[in-house]
Amino acid sequence: MTGTDWDAYVDRYHAGHPGITERALHHARHPVHGTAYEWLAAALPDPAGDVVDLACGSAPLQPHINHATYLGIDRSESELSAARSAGRGPVRSGDVTDLHLPDDSADTIVMSMALMLVPLSKTLTQVARVLRPGGTFAAIVPAAGPVLARDLPALIALSAALRGPGSMPRMLTAKSLHRQLNQAGLTPHTAGRQRFPFPVSSQRDAQLAVTSLYTPGRTARQLRRAETWLRAMPGGTELPVPLLRITARRP
Ligand SMILES: C[S@@+](CC[C@H](N)C(=O)[O-])C[C@H]1O[C@@H](n2cnc3c(N)ncnc32)[C@H](O)[C@@H]1O
Repeated sequence: MTGTDWDAYVDRYHAGHPGITERALHHARHPVHGTAYEWLAAALPDPAGDVVDLACGSAPLQPHINHATYLGIDRSESELSAARSAGRGPVRSGDVTDLHLPDDSADTIVMSMALMLVPLSKTLTQVARVLRPGGTFAAIVPAAGPVLARDLPALIALSAALRGPGSMPRMLTAKSLHRQLNQAGLTPHTAGRQRFPFPVSSQRDAQLAVTSLYTPGRTARQLRRAETWLRAMPGGTELPVPLLRITARRP
């Protein structure tokens, strides 16, 4: 949606819905790869050493990483409180474009579902600065695919109810990320996409599916309509959550 003040929208959204991304991604379990967090953690070195989790939200990644030390950073106080309440951390308030961390101080930097929200070049420059030589950066972001032919009815219903798909400040591709990683002095290592199935078999599932989308400019009525239409799909339905996972190394 054009004209959205994304920073303000994302801050308001996470203040009102702490832990929402974690709830949604735990619901979307892949039969082989498990949750998106397990899939991301599987791409990390084991052990992962000193780990920094950028835009950590409620820190759902922490339990999946074999770390020596862990530090989560996010600028949403509500998300950080959710992380602390879940017994995760340490986490602290900060902006990923201005990390108050020493040069060469992390073995592994992870970033789940946030690279598409932040100024890319500034953030990756910080990643390259804070990573130790030989260190690993790994991230997942929403992707355009893969989706299956059978996903289309639910996607069309959702899009029609919301008068357009859920929105993101920008969609990143492996190609655009590779270019940006190289520019920041990081060496792209792997890139892969997976479709995580999000079952919608109850009103609660439909509510979680719709609430977990960024939907700037949509009315409460449009959101309720999206839930109702999803719920009305014959035989229940499944929404695809297509994700791109990339890894890179600091030379
Ligand atoms: C979609 S959530 C992902 C949270 C968590 N990583 C996960 O996967 O469950 C995006 C997170 O990015 C955080 N965020 C957005 N811009 C940020 C910035 N510039 N600096 C720090 N955190 C930011 C938000 O507060 C929010 O917690």
